[in-house]
Amino acid sequence: MEEKHILIQREDLTQRIHQLAREINQSYTHEEVILVTVLKGGVVFLVDLMKELQMDLELAFLYLSSYAGEKKPISKVREYSLPFPSLKDRHVLLIEDILDTGASFSYAWKRCQEQVPRSLKSCVLLVKDRDREVEVPPIDYCGFHIPNVFVVGYGLDYQEKYRNLPYIATM
Ligand code: IMP
Ligand code: MG
Repeated sequence: MEEKHILIQREDLTQRIHQLAREINQSYTHEEVILVTVLKGGVVFLVDLMKELQMDLELAFLYLSSYAGEKKPISKVREYSLPFPSLKDRHVLLIEDILDTGASFSYAWKRCQEQVPRSLKSCVLLVKDRDREVEVPPIDYCGFHIPNVFVVGYGLDYQEKYRNLPYIATM
């Protein structure tokens, strides 16, 4: 395993997720919510967050992968087919691991929006501080702002490895 530098400790993730869950619980009091999570990176965050949510909820998943387009740094997004429920008239909360170029998040947002949900909000664990070529949809709940560096752990991978690290680290 290559040497890593811890950027966000496990305890800090736990504490921040607790705060996010409290905010989310306050904004959905009687509504039933469908959590749409982007695979694969968002799963670890989802699992920790959802255990602290008190409303009735359902899960849905979008399996996306992004790759550099011809015009870097705008990346293109590929969607792999998975069953996806109708979001019409539902309260939707979109869960993402990280905002880098924003291509993946924007794609997921549009994918949800086109189904005419009753409401659509977003919860992103990490937002990289960097310039973005595309306008990014609103982020309602943001975990942490991080510097523009490549990170792994807590669901995020480097060549499919390190998703199981319980903290966020730089390589
Ligand atoms: P985007 O560039 O914002 O579309 O990010 C696309 C996807 O690339 C994210 O959802 C992550 O899964 C992955 N990604 C972006 N930045 C990082 C990183 O620093 N480490 C690991 N994965 C990343
Ligand atoms: Mg992702």
